[in-house]
Amino acid sequence: MITEQENQEQKLAYMQQDIIITKRMDQIKHKIAVMSGKGGVGKSTMAVNIAASFAKKGYKTGILDVDIHGPNVPKMLKIGKTDLKVNEEGILPVKVGENLKVMSSQFLLSDENSPIIWRGPKKTAAIRQFLSDVSWGNLDILVIDCPPGTGDEHLAILQSIPSIDGIIMVTTPHTVSLDDVEKSINMARHLKIEVLGIVENMSGLICPECETEIPLFGRGGGSEISSKTGIPLLGSIPIDIRFEKEDDVLLVENSNSETSKNILKVVTKIEKQVLKEESAGK
Ligand SMILES: Nc1ncnc2c1ncn2[C@@H]1O[C@H](COP(=O)(O)OP(=O)(O)OP(=O)(O)O)[C@@H](O)[C@H]1O
Ligand SMILES: [Mg+2]
Repeated sequence: MITEQENQEQKLAYMQQDIIITKRMDQIKHKIAVMSGKGGVGKSTMAVNIAASFAKKGYKTGILDVDIHGPNVPKMLKIGKTDLKVNEEGILPVKVGENLKVMSSQFLLSDENSPIIWRGPKKTAAIRQFLSDVSWGNLDILVIDCPPGTGDEHLAILQSIPSIDGIIMVTTPHTVSLDDVEKSINMARHLKIEVLGIVENMSGLICPECETEIPLFGRGGGSEISSKTGIPLLGSIPIDIRFEKEDDVLLVENSNSETSKNILKVVTKIEKQVLKEESAGK
């Protein structure tokens, strides 16, 4: 049983943490979250490729992997076991190349295969701690890779980060995926956070022999949800059969395939929408 005094102390600590988060986030010009109500649709793949593209274009970029139960970002960026460094400013993100900084709950696990078994309040506390303790420094943009669903992690992110620019919603053409994405869109609307656009991933398989597109998971789901919700469709990304290995997803590194070309088109749209002022100098 929590006493009234303990309750007051907790409230005060929460408010103090909010102030620290606001200070940290003020150093980051733009923040976007990559979300989907559905699992396995390519959120992390998109988040990693979007962040890597921005970094390649010269923007100071961060990627925050808040998928506590299944952090995939380090693997996708080929970051091995890492001991995080801490200085007087806080926990330092891991640098990849010149412009990309990475933070993931994976870095906090002693053994990458051990699962984290946390319930709601603990997950919220961990995410808020991420936001308050990581020293990103000045960034042009922070891309946040969210877990599937509309749960505690999403609420913690969307409610704790002040002035978030918006959400990129990822879907596949499946009807089940679309239903789940609609739930996420409703959550964003409820929290009054803009959904910047929809990305339809795995929108077809281009046959490497004859280059015919095979609609493995159906067709047109992204545009269907776009016209239903009025949210722009940023692009459709075909399946790339080179994704045989789970850690081989940095498609923007190879801009020859249809998949990477389409991801780059999506990135350019987000750049025009979000990084308007910064892009003027590029
Ligand atoms: N366009 C694509 N072509 C081929 N494979 C893809 C494509 N997009 C994603 N994948 C593969 O699908 C799998 C799931 O992708 P990813 O991990 O990005 O999804 P997710 O939505 O982040 O999943 P989770 O809900 O578990 O976080 C990965 O193995 C990834 O390599
Ligand atoms: Mg993921």
